[in-house]
Amino acid sequence: TVFRASTTAPVNIAVIKYWGKRDASLNLPTNSSLSVTLSQRSLRTLTTASCSAVYPAADSLTLNGKPQDIQSSKRTLACLSNLRSLRQAVEAADLTLPKLSTLPLRIVSENNFPTAAGLASSAAGFAALVRAVADLYQLPQSPRELSRIARQGSGSACRSLMGGYVAWRSGELEDGSDSLAEEVAPASHWPEMRALILVVSAEKKDVPSTEGMQTTVATSSLFATRAASVVPERMDAIETAIRDRDFPAFAEITMRDSNSFHATCLDSWPPIFYMNDVSRAAVRLVHDINRAVGRTVCAYTFDAGPNAVIYYLDEVSELVAGTFKAILGGTTGGWEGPFGQRLEKVT
Ligand code: DP6
Repeated sequence: TVFRASTTAPVNIAVIKYWGKRDASLNLPTNSSLSVTLSQRSLRTLTTASCSAVYPAADSLTLNGKPQDIQSSKRTLACLSNLRSLRQAVEAADLTLPKLSTLPLRIVSENNFPTAAGLASSAAGFAALVRAVADLYQLPQSPRELSRIARQGSGSACRSLMGGYVAWRSGELEDGSDSLAEEVAPASHWPEMRALILVVSAEKKDVPSTEGMQTTVATSSLFATRAASVVPERMDAIETAIRDRDFPAFAEITMRDSNSFHATCLDSWPPIFYMNDVSRAAVRLVHDINRAVGRTVCAYTFDAGPNAVIYYLDEVSELVAGTFKAILGGTTGGWEGPFGQRLEKVT
């Protein structure tokens, strides 16, 4: 017998950035963060988890057709051992259930977007892995509880187990049991929200985020203030903006937080640069559009790479997307989902 479950998980893009760990082995953040989940029709990971006595003894993981070395990935091992323990508890409570926890796992994962595009794929990847194995094991845990496991795969992954607007509460406990993601509002709360992704570079990022954030925590003098007071205030303010569907407030906080995150990167030693000249052109264009319209109609945010994510409301879709296309040019296909995101290639 082969037991099997399939699931998908979306990509999320933070508007209040997670950057910095207070505990690297449990993957606990120095500050809370908040993200917008993108439509699964555009960007998602599809994962199938199965287990069987006929499989070779070792667990296996294939990503976009390439076998991965699970044994050298502490994070994957942590996720799988947490999930197995939860299954063992289920089996201990009902002895009639098959002993799936003792069987080797086979996990097959695929992204529907080019992995080379430099878009955050670890978030959707670990979220889908955790969800697929949890489904296979028929675990009773809620997405919020499962987010504790996904967090150990990749911090940002804990925010991909839910849709809409999702907060990752940093928590205070040393064991990380209160460091969880929760939905602030469903996507349907603000259905006019759109996101445009400008793929500035498809190259692999300069400094991987795990390494970059460790350097920032250890060396940046701006960082402590960001974590202690700047981010907590912004978390409250952006939750209010989302609740009130106040786009100008949402946009300003989003842009300021992206800038603050990249400022702590520049303030690191040696300095870390993620944005490039095209990224900065996108920043200028957003401010130019807002100035020309006379109100804030679009916002930018950048993760650990040069690609821009532009947020705006549907009513200004043509203006914003059209201006970006005209000025930063070069569309290469791309796609658009119901949540409105497009992938554009800027060359
Ligand atoms: C800039 O979640 O990739 O995208 O926990 O070390 O795997 P690890 O880091 P990761 O960092 C994401 C950083 C960010 C901001 C964010 O998504 O909040």
